[in-house]
Amino acid sequence: MAVPLLDLKAQHSTIRDSVVAAMMKVVDDQAFILGEPVERLEREVGALSQTTHAIGCANGTDAILLSLRALGIGHGDEVVTTPFTFFATAGAIHNVGARPVFADIEPDTFNISIEAIAAAVKPSTRAVIAVDLFGQMAPIELVRDAAGELPIIEDAAQSIGARRKIDGKWVMAGEAATIGTFSFFPSKNLGGYGDGGMMVTQDNELATRLRRLRVHGGMKTYHHDEVGYNSRLDALQAAILSAKLTRLEAWSAARRKNAGYYDAAFADLNDVRTPTIDPANESIYNQYTLRVARRNDLQAHLKDKKIGSAVYYPLPLHLQPCFQYLGYAQGEFPESERASEEVISLPVFPELEQSQLDEVIDAVRGFYGR
Ligand SMILES: Cc1ncc(COP(=O)(O)O)c(C=O)c1O
Repeated sequence: MAVPLLDLKAQHSTIRDSVVAAMMKVVDDQAFILGEPVERLEREVGALSQTTHAIGCANGTDAILLSLRALGIGHGDEVVTTPFTFFATAGAIHNVGARPVFADIEPDTFNISIEAIAAAVKPSTRAVIAVDLFGQMAPIELVRDAAGELPIIEDAAQSIGARRKIDGKWVMAGEAATIGTFSFFPSKNLGGYGDGGMMVTQDNELATRLRRLRVHGGMKTYHHDEVGYNSRLDALQAAILSAKLTRLEAWSAARRKNAGYYDAAFADLNDVRTPTIDPANESIYNQYTLRVARRNDLQAHLKDKKIGSAVYYPLPLHLQPCFQYLGYAQGEFPESERASEEVISLPVFPELEQSQLDEVIDAVRGFYGR
């Protein structure tokens, strides 16, 4: 039996009635831009992430871009971030006219290294973007210490609902940053039926500016305080996401259960390193990512067995052709480069059946002769 990396149809079949009803309400109301569905989802995501403001926008990339703009970051500014992330994190920095400055990752969690942030921050640095990669939060309290007075954007595109215990208290993804950003790309734990994104913050002024920036920079129709964007969250997407949000906790718990099952099944394999979750973190496992020997051969083997897998990410951002102008060389961020050669993500979606999990396990164990 084939095991896909992600089976959105399997998920849709469990929620079809509630999602279709929510969609049809928007269709019957014929009110497609912002309005009640978006305001409702903003309240719900604000509550989930324990923030006072949540502002919907068109996608997770724009959420970062609008956050940088709201912080006044632009030409001549530097922003420190990780080279081991989805392209959007650094692309947004470039697209506001600022310069991405990379800091290497921790080899165990794949999240940005605190020592590397401290070394990368210069007088020209205007912000730090920490990414909560694969579903677990970066150590946000340590990022804040390393960043000093600088604002922090937490790119939580992959980590909505993830949490971290800081000083005995659970802190949610997005909560402790200056601005937290989410993506509702369909493959995320909370995925829309199209694109969507959101920004969360505790700061009233930043919230006002973010709301303004998503509608061409003006709060009053046809009056523009600054030049913004057309980056609204679609009302249909918001309605779908609210209908799905009630299931998010259970879905993420199911992913954790699947991850635990794999962890135990691979524990005796010398060539396989299962994911390291920081003991302070609860991951939502947007990805279940191994570090393995002979990665490319393993991936070909899985493909032969009709098992889905993916490499997130095969080329770190400092080596991307479009960032050649930044002047980084091969070898500059050895942990990110090594991770790019060794990582492979396996199916971990909540609807996986026991037989599918076992099939994945047999295929990986078989490859390593066990
Ligand atoms: C870490 C990270 N940042 C940003 C994004 C961008 O989100 P979107 O695709 O919604 O623009 C994504 C996901 O696609 C992501 O994984």
